Amino acid sequence: MQIIRAAAAGFCTGVRGALKTVDQALMDIEQKDREGKQRLVFTLGPIVHNRLVVERLTARGVGVVETVEELLSKTGSQLVIRSHGVGPSFFRKAEEYGIQVIDATCPLVRRVQQLAKSLSDDGYRVVIIGDPNHPEVTAVLEWTNGQGMVVANAVEARTILEYPRIGIVSQTTQIESNYLEASSVLLRKGREVRAFNTICPATRERQEAAIALAQTVDAIVVVGGFDSANTRKLVELCSTQGIPVYQVETASQLEPVWFEKVQRVGVTAGASTPEWIIEEVIGKMSEIEQEGMATEELLEKENLSDSPDEGEIVETMEDQLTKEMPDLRTGNVIKGKVILIRDDEVLVDVGGKSEGIVPLKELSVRNITSALEVVKVGDDIEVLVVRAENDEGTMILSKRRADQMKAWEGLEEAFQSGVELAGEVVQVVKGGLLVDVGARGFAPASLIERGYVSNLEKYLGKVLRLRVIDLDRNKNKVVLSQKAILEEEYEEARKELWDTIEAGQHRKGIIRRLTNFGAFVDVGGADGLLHISEMSWTHINHPSEIVQENEEIEVLVLAVDKDKQRISLGLKQIVRSPWENAAEKYQIGQIVTGKVVRTVPFGAFVQIEPGVEGLVHISQLASYRVGRAEDVVNAGDEIPVKILDFKPQEQRMSLSLSKAREEMEAADEQQIVEEYQEAKTGEDNDTDSLTTE
Ligand code: F3S
Repeated sequence: MQIIRAAAAGFCTGVRGALKTVDQALMDIEQKDREGKQRLVFTLGPIVHNRLVVERLTARGVGVVETVEELLSKTGSQLVIRSHGVGPSFFRKAEEYGIQVIDATCPLVRRVQQLAKSLSDDGYRVVIIGDPNHPEVTAVLEWTNGQGMVVANAVEARTILEYPRIGIVSQTTQIESNYLEASSVLLRKGREVRAFNTICPATRERQEAAIALAQTVDAIVVVGGFDSANTRKLVELCSTQGIPVYQVETASQLEPVWFEKVQRVGVTAGASTPEWIIEEVIGKMSEIEQEGMATEELLEKENLSDSPDEGEIVETMEDQLTKEMPDLRTGNVIKGKVILIRDDEVLVDVGGKSEGIVPLKELSVRNITSALEVVKVGDDIEVLVVRAENDEGTMILSKRRADQMKAWEGLEEAFQSGVELAGEVVQVVKGGLLVDVGARGFAPASLIERGYVSNLEKYLGKVLRLRVIDLDRNKNKVVLSQKAILEEEYEEARKELWDTIEAGQHRKGIIRRLTNFGAFVDVGGADGLLHISEMSWTHINHPSEIVQENEEIEVLVLAVDKDKQRISLGLKQIVRSPWENAAEKYQIGQIVTGKVVRTVPFGAFVQIEPGVEGLVHISQLASYRVGRAEDVVNAGDEIPVKILDFKPQEQRMSLSLSKAREEMEAADEQQIVEEYQEAKTGEDNDTDSLTTE
């Protein structure tokens, strides 16, 4: 087996510088000790993300504190700030408490802090592309005067709002492709955007060397602390090359089985891994290789020897039996059949005349009250051996953990590929939802919908569409986002909308927001304005008289301005105009009843029916000269009017009150005459008949 070391691996300048600073501080102490003034050295957090390095320093008397307050009782102590740096509030506090600080912030990290500060001072909204929980990022964020924000990737970048000025910086250990993807999204979020690729050249060099090596070997070993971000990223990058990748912190974690049938193996190391650990790992790998060769030689010799004697045949049969026995060692996943279900446990036959128990809480990631919710007798299941035998000689098994192990493989794949998952919400917790995705995942409240979610309870039992946005198997952490999928879809719909929308189209939309002057309607990718004047043919005081928030409506696209990204919508246009209806019902000369809606100096407007108003000119209010319309009619009066002129296309109608009254009076008179004549004719007939008698 050929062991090949990556062209760039191990300590970077920043880490080396920080360790040198600690060394110097220790030497200083020794000097002071000789002078009789004992002083102590502390680091703020572990100086590097490497347990072994920190242990060595502890042995030399270097303490670790998490806050500056912890040093208040340790007079005369010195505090070394590690390469990740700190925020400005830390320096203020240290000065206030009189604590001597030795700043070993990596010069490249300090440059990022200074950039963040000056961008923020210049009015830019600073966006840091990185891990929001990483100390380097939290410190840089503090330098933005509380105006910064962090996005982990392009998906999260899509969720931030638009700002006039955006300044972009990156965590120094970011993967370059992630920075480029996220920053290309951010470039569209501001009118004026300044982007600084602040990825450390040493990080880039290590990552490129690791990928190049991974392309030429059968397997690769990455050496570095499990809590080291840059080591984790090396693992991530090597994994994309389709070869087995193993991360170890020390040589003792190497497993010989990894190197079976491996011809060429690569070794790389994170920026916080010292040379001596890398050498130990390579040394141990050589030992494993020697041992493997020796075993192969032995087997070859055995194969060449004569036919087996009786003793050897017995041994072979024993081997055969062993093969049929399940491997019941702790941590193994084995197959079994459910043979009995009790109230709080399930009995499983795992073969080889062995049985084990799955306690109720080990059956499912969900909170269940009965085993029957998950299994029934006769089911074939996979279980993990939690304990080969407990004090009473019973084997304890877990279906939950076996399922989770399987689920983790799927989750890791989903995390890498970005594929969409479905998961049922099983619990509402502070700040979000717990979702069953094989393992328990957490969907923060802010990542469930595109907008704000006030009531989380409504999601309980519902199946969400999810994307894995953060994953840490060691910490059992799965962070999920439905919003990421919805945002992407919205973005696609938005693009399609702007490509296809034209004035004159009918579109379906959802009322997102009401204002005094109208409503904003989401027409599937952008919000259009439905002005209050375009809502109804009749006068309305507020949009809420016609539409409600979240209501789905059909609208007519009145105008589109693609440059300014503005859409004007109409609602009243898609129903028949009341003037069109009126054209079929009314004609010139007809007398109708209407209601006075308002008086004006030149007459009164009279509503014939909702949306159809006509003018009674002041000269048509009465047969005599009228000084003020109010002398004859008032708003609210119901009056008869005669239609003098009617132009429905122009939405105009001229009316006359005086003519209507004249004609009505004439008609009344006519009727009286007719009734009189009728009555007279009756009387004459009666007289005639009396005369005849
Ligand atoms: Fe500095 Fe780069 Fe190392 S930023 S701490 S030299 S990884």
